[in-house]
Amino acid sequence: MSPDPQPHAASTDRLPLDTARIREAMAQHGMGELGITTSTGSTNDDLVQRAYSGNLAHLSVESTEHQQAGHGRLGRGWETPARSSLAISVFMAPDPGFDSAGLPWLSMLCATAMVQTLQEDADVAAGIKWPNDVVAGGSKLCGVLAQLVATPNGPAVVVGAGLNVSQGRDELPVATAASLRTLGATTLDRTALFTGYLRRVAALYTSFSTVHGDASAPLPGLGASLHGESLRAVIARNMVSIGHAVDAHLPDGTTLHGIAEDLGDDGALLIRDTAGTLHRVLAADVFHLRRSDGTYA
Ligand code: BTN
Repeated sequence: MSPDPQPHAASTDRLPLDTARIREAMAQHGMGELGITTSTGSTNDDLVQRAYSGNLAHLSVESTEHQQAGHGRLGRGWETPARSSLAISVFMAPDPGFDSAGLPWLSMLCATAMVQTLQEDADVAAGIKWPNDVVAGGSKLCGVLAQLVATPNGPAVVVGAGLNVSQGRDELPVATAASLRTLGATTLDRTALFTGYLRRVAALYTSFSTVHGDASAPLPGLGASLHGESLRAVIARNMVSIGHAVDAHLPDGTTLHGIAEDLGDDGALLIRDTAGTLHRVLAADVFHLRRSDGTYA
């Protein structure tokens, strides 16, 4: 992997998604319906609207070629140039045996599926920055946003992922953002990345559902590579925040400085402060601190 010196994306990179290929892959993985629009405000909003009907099939997907008013975490926006990126929202309707304590894990489950896709299919050394940003080389290339939906059939979750694919540097919103292009990934094929991501989301969700949403239970049926790890363990293994010196900007306006030690059994980030006290952080903007030589602490 070597960074692409090209600052601008070539328009030939911006091919439309192959809807037929995605629909075929979804059928293979036992997923629901697919909607892909030419342009929309937010794929999460679109899927939440469809979920209210009560008729939306589990693991249905909404995407768009051009998201113009997407939602990010903490009230931020998420907009990308047409056909430069992926905006994928997945509807998860847990069955009645699924423990509601498992619901908050679904966004990290999707971040893990994205990390696996980028590592295995695009040769990008991606990891999760708590809670569910996907980063590589210290830069963010994918954000994940989950929304709880009260459907007529019970609580469900829409999880949206936005992946920067072919943006050049001048098309990224902040200096700390990256795209697969700027990272020199081995592929910018959005359809292949889309299907790779959905396959892993479906596999992880199905396994997690088999253990009724218990994040500490060994995940069945995912092959030898996971060695019977729990979802919590798989996420923690892929979480680059763990072991890092961090600043956590908390909702009350204060900043907690310490070392991120582990992931709690409720998904909290466990941070030990300089006085040795362990804190469970459930909501924060986390910043990884660099050493003065530019490498991570
Ligand atoms: C973040 O702030 O990091 C989360 C960004 C999530 C963006 C995705 S793109 C698809 C889906 N639709 C939205 O409106 N947001 C999410």
